[in-house]
Amino acid sequence: MTALVLHTRICGLFGIRYPIVQTGMGWVSGARLTAATSDAGGFGILAAATMTLAQLEEAIRSVKERTGQPFGVNVRADQPDVGRVAELVIRSGVKLASFAGPPSRDLIRRFKDAGVLTMPTVGAPRHAEKMAEWGVDAVIAQGHEGGGHTGPIPTSLLLPAVCDTVDIPVLGAGGFNSGRGLVAALAYGASGIAMGTRFLLTKESTVPESVKAAYLRAKLTDTVVTRSVDGDPQRVIRTPVIDRLERASAVTRFPRALMSALAFRKLTGTSLTDLVREGLAMRKSRELTWAQLAMAANAPMLTKASMVDGRQEVGILPAGQVVGLIDELPTVRDVLESIMREAEETLGRLSGGSTSADAGRSGEQARADPSRRDEAVQTQTPSVARPGPQEG
Ligand SMILES: Cc1cc2nc3c(=O)[nH]c(=O)nc-3n(C[C@H](O)[C@H](O)[C@H](O)COP(=O)(O)O)c2cc1C
Repeated sequence: MTALVLHTRICGLFGIRYPIVQTGMGWVSGARLTAATSDAGGFGILAAATMTLAQLEEAIRSVKERTGQPFGVNVRADQPDVGRVAELVIRSGVKLASFAGPPSRDLIRRFKDAGVLTMPTVGAPRHAEKMAEWGVDAVIAQGHEGGGHTGPIPTSLLLPAVCDTVDIPVLGAGGFNSGRGLVAALAYGASGIAMGTRFLLTKESTVPESVKAAYLRAKLTDTVVTRSVDGDPQRVIRTPVIDRLERASAVTRFPRALMSALAFRKLTGTSLTDLVREGLAMRKSRELTWAQLAMAANAPMLTKASMVDGRQEVGILPAGQVVGLIDELPTVRDVLESIMREAEETLGRLSGGSTSADAGRSGEQARADPSRRDEAVQTQTPSVARPGPQEG
């Protein structure tokens, strides 16, 4: 039985045991899931993009009540009250801010000045470069396979390219669910992995069971990247709703989307002025048509219909392609521990039977470049490496 821990730069930076992050997923990454991840040795991130300020405050309090371990908050960088969200995150002593959409330089600086780590998601090496220049602490490089909004470059090409471009820690995302995947990410030069879909499909995820069952039924070929939800490419499970949205003309989409956008406004307490201001800013920055804009405002309601209300016949199901490889609902702790176990076994297999520190190096890059040596996988003693489930 091996008893090693893959201790990478991200473990030291975030103060975590395993180099695995549970990402902020709108309507999905609530207090229960986030706390369970952090408590089990990973790094959980609350999804603030679909919460009111009061709900976020309550969620932060609830995570802290459930675990003393560090966690993060996923902030929608372009929301009108982002200043108040940032103030709450800072005041609450949250370890890290990640971002739905690209953050501004000012927002990064604000977190940085307050001692909050920042970790945007990037889909291209030049984005990673720009973010590193702006002083972020780490990036998530999410490939095409990933769930939710996603770019065109597959993880297998994006991850090594981003790792070659920046010196800050990089987490691979899009398509990960296993220990072999973690080892592959480390071999590309990453410091760990970030997963959405895998964590959505756990016991602690509050997504209704009927919706989880639909995810479990999905095959590798059952997701599609569509612009029909909010104008940006988004990977979802192909359902009759998506087929209908893709077929619908702007004329039929617009009124329904508008109604739904107004309902979301009511739910989140956004003022009409803020909604209009946000809409105009979005239309300009993302060059959306009016119909696309209405769809964009409508998107959170479509996701909520599935993820919270369990009405998958009217909602959308964001998912990574990896959904096709997942067919059970383990606990978060089981997910983390089985990934770590498989990673260790894989390293042992690759090194001809022994999981030595040498075999654990994160690929050629760590060997070739002494400055990256702290990326190397380090071994720890069994007592440190295998804490009991009661610890956290
Ligand atoms: C249901 C769902 C909701 C998501 N919502 C958000 C979000 O609010 N903010 C964000 O930054 N990313 C969001 N994402 C993207 C994930 O954070 C993550 O980057 C992605 O799921 C990684 O790919 P994987 O699903 O293959 O693990 C979402 C993904 C899913 C599946």
